[in-house]
Formats: sequence, structure tokens, C-alpha cells
Amino acid sequence: MSAELIDGKAIAASLRSRLAEAVSSLQAAHGRAPALAVVLVGDDPASQVYVRNKARQTEEVGMRSIEHRLDDDTPQDVLVNLVQTLNADPLIDGILVQLPLPDHLDEAAVIEQIDPSKDVDGLTEASAGRLVLDKPGLRPCTPTGCVILAREVLGDLTGKSCVIVGRSILVGKPAAFLFLEQNCTVTIAHSRTQGLPALCREADILVAAVGRPMMVKGDWIKPGACVIDVGINRIDAPERGEGKTRLVGDVDFDAGKDVAGAITPVPGGVGPMTIACLLRNTVLSACAREGWSVPEGV
Ligand code: GUN
Repeated sequence: MSAELIDGKAIAASLRSRLAEAVSSLQAAHGRAPALAVVLVGDDPASQVYVRNKARQTEEVGMRSIEHRLDDDTPQDVLVNLVQTLNADPLIDGILVQLPLPDHLDEAAVIEQIDPSKDVDGLTEASAGRLVLDKPGLRPCTPTGCVILAREVLGDLTGKSCVIVGRSILVGKPAAFLFLEQNCTVTIAHSRTQGLPALCREADILVAAVGRPMMVKGDWIKPGACVIDVGINRIDAPERGEGKTRLVGDVDFDAGKDVAGAITPVPGGVGPMTIACLLRNTVLSACAREGWSVPEGV
């Protein structure tokens, strides 16, 4: 192993501790802490774990967490009404509808109901448009986490070549604009890009967000590059015993760690940054909505 391990867990913990201080100063100055509402529809086990973690970490930094759990067969209009009620509540600063929603629901239509000033996921058309148009606004959490990790390793990213493998609306596309905002030269690639290995080898910063276990091989990585692995894939691990599984990223970590200059582990890399950035967005949302100045360290 020659690469530096990018410790997302520690970097997220440090952000959360700065947020806890910020929340406490907002509470002292304005008499209330920011509040985040999370809506979970159905009983998808992975989503339940995410939502539980979000609620726990929200409270750990001193903010208010409001959870709404709805049945799997909740009709569209009931969910839309809930979002509108949360929009109208002046004491709620952030609204997150956990994805994916059950198949009978129109995900895009639900997201679009969220008041952009409370869109802590950065997924509404207004938030996406503001990002593309260089206007201030709430930015998607996972790609923001990727930028923070890359900056932690490389400092100023100006002039670096950044290849993003993946073009999802949750990660790949917003990541491209966020790295562009950092003055990187950005290329968006995907599973059907021709000559993908050679393209990846050009990258000073390689972001893998394609959702395919260990797709990025060691010889796709430029020696010394900063590799940010967004993938979380559960694969069979018979070597650990019958029926056992393990989590792997979109990068072949064992090969990549000998080539990269720095690399995120899975788990413990990008994952912890997502919730930390969500908490940060909730603080930013409260400050923007209330006209409070943003405390230092946020
Ligand atoms: N499901 C998986 N990741 C996310 C996310 O970042 N936001 C929401 N709302 N749902 C998710």
C-alpha cells in the first residue's frame, strides 16, 4: 500500500463537531436550533438504516429531528400533502424525502414539491439550476462530500483534471459542476464511454460513481492520483464463510491502493460525508431562511 487512506469517518466527525458548535451558537443567539424533517415511505431495510443514522446524527449535533414514517402503500397525494405541510412550517429548515420511493409513487414529482429554500438534498429543479448557473443555493450532499475529501488531500483544486465516472442526478452530474466550481477541468464519463481506462488514467482526481462493484481497475489510475470511490456495493464473500457478504466500492481497492496517491476506503470514505453534508445544509438553510449570519467553521 503506497496510497494515503482518506479517512472520511474522521473528516466527517470533524465537520460534525464544528456543526455542533455552530448549532449551539445559533441556539444562544436566536433561541432555536435548526430542524430537519426526514420522510421515509415503506420499509426498505437500507433506507431504514440511513434514516435512523440521519436522525441520530441530527440530534447529536444539537438540531431537532422530525421523522415521518409512512406505509408502503401511501398514495401520492398524501405524501405531497405532507411535504406541503412541512413547507409551510416555519420551524422546519430542511426536508429530505428518502429515496428510492416505492414504485407506485412519482419520485420526481414529490421532490419537486419541496420548497427550494428547504431542499437540503439539493435535488429540486431550482437547486440544480442554481448550481449550473453559479448562483448560491443548497448543493447535493454526496458530491459535496467528494469535493471536501479531495480538498482535504490536495488543497486548492485549481487546474486539476477531474474525471467522474457516472452521470446520475444524485452524484455524477452535480459532482461535475461542483468540481468545475473548484476550477477543475472536468470530464463526465460513464459505463458506455469508449476508451474508459485511458480516460481515467488522465485524471488527477478520479471520482467513481457508477454503481458497479470494483469496475475501476488498478491500471485505470494515474500513479499518484486522488481516487474518490462513491460506490457502495454488497457482494458475496464466500471466503468469509457460507452466505457471507461484504461491501465494496466501484474501485478495485486492493489494486488501486498501490497506484493512487490517496484513496477513499469503502466503507468509511465518502459514505460518512453524505450525512455530515446534509447536517451542514440544514444549518445553511436555517441561516438563509432566518437571515442569520452563518457561524464560523460551517
Ligand atoms: N437515498 C440514497 N442516497 C440518498 C440521498 O442522498 N438522498 C435521499 N433523499 N435519498 C437517498
